[in-house]
Order: sequence, then C-alpha cells, then structure tokens
Amino acid sequence: MLITENTRDFICDNIDRLEDGELTFRGQRLTSLAKKYGTPLYLYDEEKIREKCRAYLGAVKAGFGSRAKVLYASKAASFKRLYEIMREEGMGIDVVSRGEIYTAHRAGFDLQNAYFHSNNKTDEDIEYAIDKGVGYFVADNAEELYAIERIAGAKDKACRVLLRITPGIDPHTYAAVATGKVDSKFGSAIETGQAMEITKVALSLPHVTLRGFHCHVGSQIFDAEIYLMTSRVMLDFVKDVYESLGYLADELDLGGGLGVRYIESQPTLDIASVILSVSDALKAHADELGITLPVICFEPGRSIVADAGLTLYTVGTVKDIPGYKTYVSVDGGMTDNPRYALYGSPYTILPVIASESEDREVSVVGRCCESGDILQEGVMLPSDTKRGDLLACLTTGAYHYSMASNYNRIPRPPVVILTKDSDYLAVRRESVEDVASLDL
Ligand code: LLP
Repeated sequence: MLITENTRDFICDNIDRLEDGELTFRGQRLTSLAKKYGTPLYLYDEEKIREKCRAYLGAVKAGFGSRAKVLYASKAASFKRLYEIMREEGMGIDVVSRGEIYTAHRAGFDLQNAYFHSNNKTDEDIEYAIDKGVGYFVADNAEELYAIERIAGAKDKACRVLLRITPGIDPHTYAAVATGKVDSKFGSAIETGQAMEITKVALSLPHVTLRGFHCHVGSQIFDAEIYLMTSRVMLDFVKDVYESLGYLADELDLGGGLGVRYIESQPTLDIASVILSVSDALKAHADELGITLPVICFEPGRSIVADAGLTLYTVGTVKDIPGYKTYVSVDGGMTDNPRYALYGSPYTILPVIASESEDREVSVVGRCCESGDILQEGVMLPSDTKRGDLLACLTTGAYHYSMASNYNRIPRPPVVILTKDSDYLAVRRESVEDVASLDL
C-alpha cells in the first residue's frame, strides 16, 4: 500500500498518516500507544467528543434558543470519565439502567439532568432512580406509570415523566435498531390509541407530573427527512392531546439516531444543518397548529462518540486457504466489537504501518472460539501483513465498550483517552482475576 494523497484522505479528520507511513489518531503515534498500554486497546479522542457536544449545543441554541436540551444517550458508551466530560460540556444524559445511573452519580453528574428510559424498569430500578434524584422518567407504558405512582407515592414524592410514544415511522434502517414502528417493544403507539390512553392515565396520577412526550425512531439514520416526518407526527399528537384532554406538553423529546460515517461510501452528516432543518419545520408546524412549541430535546449517542473512538489490535495468525480466502486473526474480536456479528456493520480497518506491498482482500477475525467471531470481511490489507503487526479499526467509540462481553472469559480492553498532547487511562484493562472475581 503506497502512501498517496488518496490513502491520506481518511473518513474522519482525527486520523492521519505521517510521512514515515505510521497512522496517527488525534496526532498521536499508534505504535507508542500500543507499546504503552498493550492491545486490544480502545482509544477515545477527547477533543472530538467535546466538538460534537458543542456542535449539538450550538445548533439547538441557534434553532430553539434556550428552549431545547441535548441529552447524551449514554448507552453508546458509559464510563465515569465520559460523564465528567458531559457534565463539563453542559449536556444532559439519557440513562437506561441502575448501572448507568450509578456511574453518572460517581462522576458527580447532576442527576436532575438525567432522563431514565428503558421499556421495563423494575420496582428496584424506579426506587433507586427516585432515591438518587434522577430528574425525569421516560415511561414506556401504563403498567410502568402505575409502578412509578405506587413507589413515588410511598415516598411522598412526585416524579416528572415523559411518555414514550411510537409515532409509526420506519426509519429504513436495519431492523434490529428500528424502534419507532408500531410493532415495537418500545412505547405506546399513536395509531392504536394507546398513546392517548396512557396520557390520560398519566394525567390522573397524583405522584406523576406529566412533562411531555418522547420518541426515538431508530439509529444510524442518514435521511434528515425521517426527523422532519417524526417531528410533524409528534407535534400533531401534542395538538390532539391538547384538544382532547386540555393538556399542552412542556417537552418533546425526539430521541437520537443520527448516522455516522464508518466507511468511505457513507456521508458525513452535518449535525447543525439537520438540527436547523428540524427546528424550522417544528416552528412552522407549531404555527400552523396554533400551539406553543414545547422545549425540544435531542438524545444523540452514536453521533457524539463514534468517530471519537478507534480500536487497536495486534495481528496473530494469518491463514491462507488456497482457492478460498485469507483470515487475519487479531487479539480482540466479538468480545470488544460484536457489531459485525450482530448487524453486519461495515468498518474501515487499516494497517498502522503502511507497507509497500500490494493489498489483498482478507477477513479480519477475532480470537473467540466461534466461527461468527468476525470483525469485518472484504478488508484490503497489505499482502505482507504478519504476526505482530498493528491494525486500527476506525469509528469504534459507540456501542463497542458498552456492548463488550467476557465471552470465552476474555478480559475487556482498557479505555485510554487522548488529548492533543497527552493520553490517560479512563478504564483500566480487565485481568483474568477480574473476570473470575465473582465466582464463589
Ligand atoms: N434514545 C433512545 C431512546 C435510544 O433507544 C437510543 C438508541 C438513542 C437515544 C441513541 O441513539 P443513537 O444516537 O446512538 O443512534 N447497539 C446498536 C444501537 C442501538 C441503539 C439503541 N437506542 C448498534 O450498535 O448499532
């Protein structure tokens, strides 16, 4: 692979290749980081995370003034240092479990700015969230509303609640992450009348303070039109509720889902222009309907952290099967990145040190005892790729560390954060003792 202008054009501006052929991330040499921390290694570019938070916050300010919030969907990546960054950037957060609430609390995050989602909060979850002072519940269904009422009532507290509504929109994305359709485990549908029903229930409960509505139609969405349609449907619902029940929503949360670029053929979405087109559409539609626009919330996860992440691997076995294919095995796999195995997600995988030899097509696979443990097929790598070489998988900041597992009792990699001229450990490497530490 020769270093040409073309090979120096990367899918994200925090990646570059030095004249000597070495790949850098946020200006830092990947060989030095591999040497210092070992592989597999999750790297995060702090500046990129902050840049994305500011892009969202700036765009909502331009579009909605002070009547908007940006909540980082922490399922995309959740660890203490990330919540500190979110706190410093003035972001709210979306949490879905006691683990995320606990981690945010440990980071000193003000949980009044946290929205507690999930389609099935247990009584223990609800109690924990109330005790920790979580600001908002996003209730999925009537049963959950009754549970919140019962638990809040026993504590003589009131909970602010948004209702999760399914607007009936298919985001043309892959099925496993499509959540806004009527047939979904999430939320209550407008189409079936259940959305209006749970609104009535919420308004009747003394320890539930209804604040508005929430929806999330899917993830890795590139078509801004989806957001415009969703906004319209949701605002129509706000108006219907106002007319039928006399209740005008204070907040409307449109969820997350903006797509990010994993491979060259995908576009880079401009966060500001998507938000601004949504704000124009919402303002115009609120005028048409003659209602005051609620405070608008966005819940981005992937588009905040995905391209702030990169995973480094060391090559092990390289196996040629004549007439079939070449397998390049690395020291990680579906344990640190299950996304190809689960969704067939595309990735860009590059050699850390460029080579003069011709590229050839290979499958990059992991070390788990499972044939489906594939990181990516059809990867072009130099034909002299060998044991000990380093590979970089780009755009791994979202749904990697948070979806990592200990399958085969493999310890999870550490998380190292890069700043312009330094690096620091945010999550230490798991040891085999950590993995076995719960065994009695
Ligand atoms: N809000 C809600 C209620 C959500 O369910 C999600 C994602 C988000 C916000 C953030 O969506 P984002 O901006 O990250 O697209 N594991 C899958 C993605 C699952 C997304 C689940 N919900 C993946 O690796 O692609």
